[in-house]
Amino acid sequence: MHAPSRRIQIAAPSMGEEEWLALREPIETGWLTQGPKVAAFERAFAKRHRVRHAIAVTSATTGLHLALATLGIGPGDEVIVPAFTWVATANAVLYCGATPVFADVDRATFNIDPADVARRLTKRTRAVIPVHLFGLCADMVGLRAVLTPGVRIVEDAACASGAALGDTPAGGLGDLGVFSFHPRKSVTTGEGGMVTTNDDALAERARVLRNHGASVSEEERHHGPRPYLLPDFDELGFNYRMTDLQGAIGLVQLAKLDRFIDERAASAAYYRRELASVEWLRTPYEPNAGRHAWQAFVTYVDPARAPRPRNEIMELLQARGIATRPGTHAVHMLGYYRDRFGLSPDDYPASRDCDANSMAIPLHNRMTREDYAYVVDALRAL
Ligand SMILES: Cc1ncc(COP(=O)(O)O)c(C=O)c1O
Repeated sequence: MHAPSRRIQIAAPSMGEEEWLALREPIETGWLTQGPKVAAFERAFAKRHRVRHAIAVTSATTGLHLALATLGIGPGDEVIVPAFTWVATANAVLYCGATPVFADVDRATFNIDPADVARRLTKRTRAVIPVHLFGLCADMVGLRAVLTPGVRIVEDAACASGAALGDTPAGGLGDLGVFSFHPRKSVTTGEGGMVTTNDDALAERARVLRNHGASVSEEERHHGPRPYLLPDFDELGFNYRMTDLQGAIGLVQLAKLDRFIDERAASAAYYRRELASVEWLRTPYEPNAGRHAWQAFVTYVDPARAPRPRNEIMELLQARGIATRPGTHAVHMLGYYRDRFGLSPDDYPASRDCDANSMAIPLHNRMTREDYAYVVDALRAL
């Protein structure tokens, strides 16, 4: 077989000289973890997402754990999560000793289906984690309409930096929001995450738990009158602090977020237009209002009409140098969850279908026009 004429990755971080230069200050000052750069990144992130508080953490996974711990979720509690999401959404519930209860998704949007959430509510339900999958905000209006009073909402906005539902940015649509800066996201700090909230008390508690449960933050202690005294630790916390190296990079990346999303939106529009003639491939749902953040461009390969099964299509594209991936996985079908909770694939039919037939095609800020045209040609030729 001939070597492909191009190699197009599924995602690629966009970083350069500015990120290099941003590292200089923390390296020179020696303040390497949760210091002035993290604080500045938090302020800028909160401003961009129009929330009162942003609390930087080491990843969205630890951010989800922190958010649930902040709400006091623990053994005996149930937390509803979509069955089609990255495994971390459900894992965070287990880290708290609580029980994840899956709800199915809407095939059209890939997001949690409020009608199925309504069926899964019990008197033990303490929270629900809607996921803004691939950068599209979940149906928060539909979700709120079915929730019983007192059920808290933690947005899994791992894919949704810069997304909005109507006029409201992701991160301010629930009690707490959680973002990821993993390299597959639009803006990245290598690993990293952010917890957002408009609630002062929740923010305060999240900050304490992030830093081992210390009653006084490191920064306050170092700059206070008695830096030599250790604070008290009143509760069990964690070390989920972000480094100042990441904070410095995050600030630079965040300033590029809107440009990145605009470029991605233009590329998504190109794909939608050019792939309209490929009748077996459904392009992503796009809302009329609000803003899709286009973390990924996830299509659906219609098994009734496609020339081949999805996995064979992915293999043929790989041979042409085009990386693809399933959108994400159905967590109820993963070995650990299947065995521990006795779940079967048909318990969540839409999630099972999305697991089998979703296909992310390359979309990122380092692709050229020719790259996009090459992907379109390859799909049309199948
Ligand atoms: C929906 C969702 N939630 C959570 C995570 C976890 O993010 P992180 O890698 O920052 O821990 C991801 C990462 O891919 C994700 O896609």
